[in-house]
Amino acid sequence: MNSPEHAPEPTPLTARRGGVLAGRARVPGDKSISHRALILSAMTVGESTVAGLLEGEDVLNTAQAMRDLGARLIRGEDGIWRIHGVGVGGFAAPAKPLDFGNSGTGCRLVLGAVAGCPIKATFDGDASLRKRPMRRVLDPLERMGARVIGEAEGGRLPLTIGGARDPLPIEYESPVPSAQLKSAVLLAGLAAPGETVVIEEEASRDHTERMLKHFGAKIVSKPHGEHGRRIVLQGQPELEPANIVVPADPSSAAFPMVAALIVPGSELVLENVMTNPLRTGLFTTLREMGATIEEIAKRDNGEEVADLRVVASKLKGVEVPPERAPSMIDEYPILAVAAAFAEGTTRMRGLKELRVKESDRLEATAAMLRANGVAVEIEGDDLIVHGKGAAPGGGTVATHMDHRIAMSALVMGLASDNPVRIDDSAFIATSFPGYVELMRGLGADLS
Ligand code: S3P
Repeated sequence: MNSPEHAPEPTPLTARRGGVLAGRARVPGDKSISHRALILSAMTVGESTVAGLLEGEDVLNTAQAMRDLGARLIRGEDGIWRIHGVGVGGFAAPAKPLDFGNSGTGCRLVLGAVAGCPIKATFDGDASLRKRPMRRVLDPLERMGARVIGEAEGGRLPLTIGGARDPLPIEYESPVPSAQLKSAVLLAGLAAPGETVVIEEEASRDHTERMLKHFGAKIVSKPHGEHGRRIVLQGQPELEPANIVVPADPSSAAFPMVAALIVPGSELVLENVMTNPLRTGLFTTLREMGATIEEIAKRDNGEEVADLRVVASKLKGVEVPPERAPSMIDEYPILAVAAAFAEGTTRMRGLKELRVKESDRLEATAAMLRANGVAVEIEGDDLIVHGKGAAPGGGTVATHMDHRIAMSALVMGLASDNPVRIDDSAFIATSFPGYVELMRGLGADLS
């Protein structure tokens, strides 16, 4: 792992237009589910197993944090992770700061898990994570009895919290549609007696709720208002060890998917992709734009899964409503690339949360397109892309330590008139190890 002061030399990469993309591929395991599988297993007494874990840097940092907090995690030669947890409230004080690298999810979820244990722990991360807001999570955790002992300016990392000896259950109305925030409160609520309630005006991804149920917790989620949820968790459950099979990450599938849509003549099958409706806003939007994305071999093992057949398609501009944002929050950079290759204007509304991702993703996405000759505007929280069915390319994209900007820019280069270069490909490994090899295997020209 790289401390902010010791980042290695950047590794630029260039994407060029070449032949069609074709074949079958399986992208790595879902990042959200992978973090949660490790954390919940570590909070359960006994052995849980995880197959198909995303072994990207973000998740490996969470694995290390679980070890630092006293859980035992072993990766078998068969690729299956075996986790011996310490039980709810059972984490031990770590001997050194927990380092979450680039990962907001790992950091915020573990903040919640630690808030319900009577220990002191310091949380840190790389230069990107050190810029991201943690106050949103600390506020409810303080209400539950955790103490913030030290924090960098504005509630940022590095920060030290003291978990609560006797955490209190709260009813929490989340001010932002954030699954990380919701999950932090629920994980802290595991150690509190009685009911912890989280109310969301806009439903965010529900993997924590589903997985808590899988581990034997009593948790009920009901509709609230037009787009929201009210989630009630019974505290202090006896979690039972569980076996988890992680499906492929739809947020990673998004990159080969859009590449196949915009490189004429392409056709791919993306295998075993999770299709939880709170994650598939991109698929809905692309279909509205005219994309052929077929779900074949649908199945369900606690999360909906399908193979996706994607065929190069003529796309048109659309309006993407703000209430869809939580179900595709990580997909706007790659949607913006699709929009550049569509005919007509695409307006993506309500993207405020993009400003606090691994980079200011609203600005970084606009800059990526502009650098490659695409007309784009930011109006308030909206991103507007004027698609011309083609893009000049020829630019170098500043990735700002953001894996999704890096992967999106490379997809753009596969279909633009001139090559697209990124300043650094290193951060792709946080969420999609093997991206370059997988894309080359499908026919992409990346060098
Ligand atoms: C995630 C939630 C989202 C998303 C992130 C993963 C999760 O963040 O952007 O990549 O696993 O809970 P927010 O909760 O901050 O919206």
